[in-house]
This record gives sequence, C-alpha cells and structure tokens, in this order.
Amino acid sequence: MLKPIILKIGGSVVTDKSKPFSIRRKIIRRISEEVATAIKSGCPPLVIVHGGGSFGHPVAQRYGIHQGFREKAQLIGFVETVQAMRRLSDVIIENLQASGVSALPLQPSAITLQKGGRISTMFSGIIEKALAMGVTPVLWGDAVLDEEKGFSILSGDQIVSRLSALLSPSKIVFGTDVDGICPSDPKKTGAKPFGELTRDELERITMQSSGSNGVDVTGGMRGKLQEIIAITSVGIEVVVMNALKAGNVLRALLGGKVGTLVKP
Ligand code: IPE
Repeated sequence: MLKPIILKIGGSVVTDKSKPFSIRRKIIRRISEEVATAIKSGCPPLVIVHGGGSFGHPVAQRYGIHQGFREKAQLIGFVETVQAMRRLSDVIIENLQASGVSALPLQPSAITLQKGGRISTMFSGIIEKALAMGVTPVLWGDAVLDEEKGFSILSGDQIVSRLSALLSPSKIVFGTDVDGICPSDPKKTGAKPFGELTRDELERITMQSSGSNGVDVTGGMRGKLQEIIAITSVGIEVVVMNALKAGNVLRALLGGKVGTLVKP
C-alpha cells in the first residue's frame, strides 16, 4: 500500500473561533470537493483529522475539562464536549461523503485513553484496516478519559503525531487560517511565511511563539509547532498552509508547492 498522507484541518478553518458554534459550511464544502478531486487524481490514501474550533474549545473551557476531573459537576461538561465535537464532525463527514469521499467517522474518545494528557492507548488497528480497504478515516480533537486526570483534552495535533509514528505517512499537511509558519503573528504584523524550514530553525521559532486568537485549550500556535517538531523528529515532511484559500488543499495533497515546508 502507498504510504498515506495525514491531512489536519484546523478548527480555525472549519469554524469561526471567535464565535461559539459557528460553522464555516462553504469552506467545508469546498475543502471536501478538493479532497475528492485529489483522491480521484491519484493522491495516496488519506487520514483526515480536524480540530475543535468554536465547538470543542468553549465547552471544554467552561467546565475546565483540560484541567482534569475536580468535581462531579464537570462530568456533564465532559460529555457535552464530546457531543459538540460529534456535531461538528457530522457536518464535515456529511460534506465529504456528499463529494464522493468514503469518509469513516472514528470518534477518538471511543478508541483512545490518555494518561496525564498524552495518549496511552489508541485502538489504531481500525485505522490501518480502513486505509487498506480504501476508506478514509476521519478523526478529530476530542475530550477523552484519562487514567491519571479522569479526563483530558486530546488535540487533533497530538492525534497527528501519534499516527505519524504509527503509519509512517509520506507527508503531513496542516490546513490552517494563515499562509504558513511566519516569523511573527501574520494577523498582527502581516508577516510573510517561510517557504522552507529545517527542524532546527523551527525549534528556534517555537521558543518565541505564543497562543492563538479566540478560546483555545490546547496551546494554540505554540502547541501546534511543538507537535510539528515531534513529527519531523521521526523523519516526516510537514506542510503548513492556508486552507481558507481555494485550491490550496488540492495543491498540497498533489505535491504542489504551497505554504511552508518543514524538512526533517
Ligand atoms: C481541540 O482540538 C478539541 C477540543 C477542544 C475538544 P484541536 O486543538 O485540534 O483544535 P483546534 O484545531 O486548535 O481548533
């Protein structure tokens, strides 16, 4: 089997992070069509992971799910976070399927346990089997049970780094709401993205970076860069690009130049 590509679509792409429960339907429809076109044009098998955006983060924040279990009143917040994410992923999966992609929803909290906020067990055999069958597994950032903390947040980016070690993909593509990895926050300074970076250069940049706009319980941009460092450590190429711009997802999946390429 061809080595897969993992496509992470950020929560800031599929939702408006500044408004709770705001979904970007047109963007989701367009990205779904680009994914379908890429598959028809012979791109390798895909695993899709999406973020929480304005669905997961505000609910998790309200109940302190990222801080772990402290009192019974949080339990309803834990399950509401899971459910909010299912609602978002339903829309994404329905759009993918309508575009002709055999998208299989795999709820991370049903196949994963964490310990201290990092994955301890993930039943991943199902992902490998799905890929071998030619279906496209879709996972997402989720609230999951945690052996130490009771529950914790599993970010989509952490799922991506776990799957990188497991599936040895040919490439990871991060679709974000910025043009790539920039020397400073492009939304504030208008900075242009790097075309290419080595892992060492990325480490230096990460130390200077901070969080993201809107509510974020998983570390914003800095959290993302740290996961990218982990991924490139195992020798896999990473592309970070703007998925809000038409054509970019298709281009990245077919190997065209777009955004920032991080070389291992
Ligand atoms: C967060 O997932 C999931 C929850 C808060 C439940 P991510 O951390 O992957 O989401 P984004 O991409 O930053 O929105």
